[in-house]
Amino acid sequence: MPTKVVVIGGGAREHALVRALRLGGTDRELVCIPGNPGIARDARCLQPEGPGVEGLAAAALAERPDLVIVGPEAPLADGLADRMAQARVPCFGPVAAAARIEASKAFAKEIMLAAGVPTAAAALFEDAAPARDYARAQGACVVKLDGLAAGKGVIVADDGAQAARAVDELWRPGAKLLIEERLEGPEISIIALCDGASVLPLPPARDHKRLLDGDQGPNTGGMGAVCPPRDGTPALVAETVRAVLLPTVRELARRGTPFVGALYAGLMLTPRGPRVLEFNCRLGDPEAQAILIKLRSDPLPLFLAAAQGRLGGEQPVWDPRTAVAVVLAAHGYPGTPRPHDAIDGLDDIAEGEDLWVLHAGTSLHQGKIATAGGRILTVAALGANAAQARERAYGAAARIRFAGKQLRSDIAAAEG
Ligand code: AMP
Ligand code: GLY
Repeated sequence: MPTKVVVIGGGAREHALVRALRLGGTDRELVCIPGNPGIARDARCLQPEGPGVEGLAAAALAERPDLVIVGPEAPLADGLADRMAQARVPCFGPVAAAARIEASKAFAKEIMLAAGVPTAAAALFEDAAPARDYARAQGACVVKLDGLAAGKGVIVADDGAQAARAVDELWRPGAKLLIEERLEGPEISIIALCDGASVLPLPPARDHKRLLDGDQGPNTGGMGAVCPPRDGTPALVAETVRAVLLPTVRELARRGTPFVGALYAGLMLTPRGPRVLEFNCRLGDPEAQAILIKLRSDPLPLFLAAAQGRLGGEQPVWDPRTAVAVVLAAHGYPGTPRPHDAIDGLDDIAEGEDLWVLHAGTSLHQGKIATAGGRILTVAALGANAAQARERAYGAAARIRFAGKQLRSDIAAAEG
């Protein structure tokens, strides 16, 4: 009997998961809910049976899967992994109580303080007036809205007046605000697979979050990634496992909510050492696209072992080359993306182990693949170094044509 795997989600991260699982072996049946037209070439795609987590859970359980892998944070925060646990289906992705590490920045801070994890000093406010006074007195600082905000709940302020304005901009009745010490340094994403007790770090990656070259323009979900960046050394990964990931996983287990899934530490490499800016309860997007194309062993035993609490023996094999992932976004992204622009050139690209074209916001419109979201596609490529990986990724990205296509030209350019 083939192993049946259900992947939840429909972005390029989930496409990368499905692609890696398909390339990993033939002894499996792959289903994706809801997937997208690109994923449909690698797996059978299904619609949820209704709205929200219940609709996803019903569609997933009807498949009688051996493993469910949840890509995005929202269904995890809403309890999809809890539903799988009730049904005794192995699930890669944390229960809602552990997913709070992403869903609530205040909870993440509390865990970090309890576990002694290095992070920016912070104060929590439940009212706007004291938050505004505190922010003004702080000067340069960072104001964060508690709760899932799809990257829009953080304002980095240069001075007290800006900080006070940031409080007013983010504040809403019933909200909590965190006001943090503003740190400086390059950012890096270190993600580990977790089985509730142990952690297996993936190669580190760097996201490029701003829309435009030179880190200009508005924040986005991520416009590209490199894996590994030059400063993502084995020593940094080992230090992050020791000082950040293991203490966090132990603290969550101690509270009776063990973390199973991908624990993503967003770090800033400050002159005083790495500091955690945020935790996510899932793989990053587009980091996952750059990480998973480097995997040379089968991902299925890894995800299954994590879901079943026996990650200890797993030793994945990684391609030693550098991966670069470039996101192609729609006209208007990250504001109001324009749908229904026909996409040409996809069939001219020779995909293989070293080059993946991953779909996110695509749909079939009048029989053709068209834009249907903000981030449309990710092109991921491997090269002997970052320059060669860039050349390959950008070569393919240039062949893909649609009206209003937006992409950065400097993903991984600083890596040499
Ligand atoms: P977060 O969603 O918490 O990761 O914040 C989004 C972005 O805001 C991060 O990727 C950083 O660029 C920036 N940021 C967050 N916290 C800090 C901090 N304490 N100091 C400086 N920049 C920060
Ligand atoms: N690339 C950032 C994230 O996935 O949150």
